[in-house]
Amino acid sequence: MSRIVYVNGEYLPEEDAKISVFDRGFLFADGVYEVSSVIDGKLVDNAAHIARLERSLKELKLDWPCSPEDLLGIQREVIARNNLVEGIVYWQITRGAADRDFAFPKNAKPSLVMFTQARAVCDVPAAAKGIAVVTVPDIRWGRRDIKTVQLLAPSLAKMAALEAGANDAWLVEDGVVTEGSSNNAFIVTLDGTIVTRNLGNEILHGITRRAVLEIAAREGLTVEERAFTPAEAYDAAEAFITSASSFVMPVVKIDDRILGNGVPGPVASKLRTLYIEMARAAAS
Ligand SMILES: Cc1ncc(COP(=O)(O)O)c(C=O)c1O
Repeated sequence: MSRIVYVNGEYLPEEDAKISVFDRGFLFADGVYEVSSVIDGKLVDNAAHIARLERSLKELKLDWPCSPEDLLGIQREVIARNNLVEGIVYWQITRGAADRDFAFPKNAKPSLVMFTQARAVCDVPAAAKGIAVVTVPDIRWGRRDIKTVQLLAPSLAKMAALEAGANDAWLVEDGVVTEGSSNNAFIVTLDGTIVTRNLGNEILHGITRRAVLEIAAREGLTVEERAFTPAEAYDAAEAFITSASSFVMPVVKIDDRILGNGVPGPVASKLRTLYIEMARAAAS
């Protein structure tokens, strides 16, 4: 059965959904996106994703294609039309179609596309096993705090990881880890301190990162927001990543170093359980 996707005012079977070849998202990666997860047919931490979208749009001087309230209505509609119980909603806004020119067009109408992906997000085998990551150079542009659709560098990083037999890549710049290819990176030191890169233009300000740091604080865990090196990560007790689609995912191997005894650690496992409990209870 084909999905129903939303394209600029219409709900269409995916094979009928079309975007102009002149769309600046296609020609210049001139657009931003967001992903919210869905549990029990309800959106998780969605207001925070819409708030980050608003910031991304502002940073790129992109206009809203509709009001934030209408956007929420479209999200609910694609969830309903696709009978989505668990998975994700993806939406992107581009500057729209205009004859190809580096300068922003004066009168282009922003384009909004939204679709769902049905998949398990809570009960996933990888969470019980943990994942392996490899470190690769971070070759992305300097404004990673803006969630743009310009994803070739992370895509290359992910491919390098898969080719190395790992599941994902951690990106390294100036000798320190920035983040994962599509997630924020955390380590837990031998004394139990949770360390993750401090916010700045170098990383995406993850919505899940923020929620997990709030849970960690509530649990009385010590958190340090600072850069860490791959060498520090090799010697960590545990590691994990966070994102809207993977929640908290334990990392058990970094490059050729196995962490602890090679199974998800207690801190990552506990934060995953608490995050899912909180997400399920607050989903709306
Ligand atoms: C580069 C990058 N960092 C971090 C994240 C995690 O952000 P969030 O928790 O808001 O999904 C993502 C998610 O796509 C990402 O692409």
